[in-house]
Amino acid sequence: MKKLLLLSLIGFLFSCKKESGENFGKPSAEIAENASLKPEELGKEIFEGKGVCYTCHKSETKTVGPSIKEIAKIYKEKGASISEFLKEKGEPIVDPSQYATMKTNFAVTKNLPEEELKALEAYILSF
Ligand code: HEC
Repeated sequence: MKKLLLLSLIGFLFSCKKESGENFGKPSAEIAENASLKPEELGKEIFEGKGVCYTCHKSETKTVGPSIKEIAKIYKEKGASISEFLKEKGEPIVDPSQYATMKTNFAVTKNLPEEELKALEAYILSF
């Protein structure tokens, strides 16, 4: 009889745990995951995701646009702001002759929140 009581107690504890796990565990874990993303990790996500920057910018080699490394080098040398450039508030300093092609992206980047622009900047400068 005692054993049975103990078993049902354990069963009860488990069912509580499972329920709270389903209701609260998941969302808070997801929030924690996002909050723990470093700016350059968030930037990478945007660069390769909704920003579609990767189609024209590769890390090492020049394709349609200059490589990420080249952009990072020039922006570090000049101490310029990538986030300002992406808001169309800066001058092109990497390859001004091709600026018209890059300009088409401002329709997207101008509407990104400041946090995401800073994340893109952090990602590029991490090269
Ligand atoms: C359609 C192709 C294309 C896409 C997509 C694209 N770029 Fe570019 N990008 C270019 C070209 C071409 C240049 C060279 C012209 C220039 O320097 O402005 C450039 C230049 C740049 C520069 C250097 C600007 C400077 O000062 O000269 C940065 C920073 C940059 N791109 C960031 C991005 C980011 C971030 C994204 C994604 C949101 C993106 N690009 C998407 C083609 C593209």
